[in-house]
Amino acid sequence: MTIIEHAEEIEHLSSGKTRVLVPTMGALHHGHERLIRHGRSLAGKAGQLIVSIFVNPTQFGPGEDFETYPRTPAEDRSLCIAAGTDILFQPTVEEMYSAEQDLGTNADTKLTGTLCGPDRPGHFDGVCTVVNKLFSLIQPDIAVFGKKDYQQLAVIKQMASNLKMPVKIIGSETIREKDGLAMSSRNRYLSAQQRAQAPVLYKALKGISENNNLESAARIKAARDMIAREAPLGKISYLQIVDRETMQELMEIDRPALAATAVQFGTARLIDNIEIDPVI
Ligand code: PAJ
Repeated sequence: MTIIEHAEEIEHLSSGKTRVLVPTMGALHHGHERLIRHGRSLAGKAGQLIVSIFVNPTQFGPGEDFETYPRTPAEDRSLCIAAGTDILFQPTVEEMYSAEQDLGTNADTKLTGTLCGPDRPGHFDGVCTVVNKLFSLIQPDIAVFGKKDYQQLAVIKQMASNLKMPVKIIGSETIREKDGLAMSSRNRYLSAQQRAQAPVLYKALKGISENNNLESAARIKAARDMIAREAPLGKISYLQIVDRETMQELMEIDRPALAATAVQFGTARLIDNIEIDPVI
């Protein structure tokens, strides 16, 4: 595996090979590993698999955890090697944000009007800005993102389409702990007591998907009651059912939908979601 820290070294990338990019912020866990392996399989033996690790300051809001975000460079490198990475791109903040005035890239405001959007103003603009820069530098044929961050995946698909970027965006399934908790770099912030209550996110979302009520409100109420009962240490930021394509809130589940939630446990903000098929 080759490690690249400066944008000008990107010419190490070979031309003519299928180039697959898996962007991350490091503190890699088994969920990332599966995502990287998915990237490896899409690249095939002949293609080139690039993983980027960059804790992107512009996607963190004031009071969020940019400074304290976990950084585990040595472990990350071993994991990238084990998962079949060809090139690890690990730029500095100066490298990525060198211009005096950064134009940035705006996220589609319709897609960001629900779920994490109102909760984290500017977050998706920061994500689009950095992913746009990564795409420009690396020029991948394919880029892989996790469905765990479903709204992020939708926003990036929209950006790539709007800006006519010649890249195929692939969504990869959410990887979970045995008890259902979605793997996340932020799970390490949880105390033992919070960790014991955290699987309720997935349990409540599964409850929503197995409930046959056409009306979203009834399903949401049951899920909220479950979280209040089983996770007194958690505070729900949102629990919504949205259209899977447009991210607009759905009153009735009459088309492919997504139930998504964010729950704050102390300093850890956990998110999760589940796809729901329409009631016919
Ligand atoms: P990060 O949170 O490090 O996640 C990197 C990628 O891993 C994202 O595509 C995310 O959806 C995926 N991922 C995280 N946990 C996962 C899990 N349990 N199962 C499957 N995939 C999982 O998301 C970001 O970084 C950043 O916003 C980034 C896209 C890199 C832009 O800065």
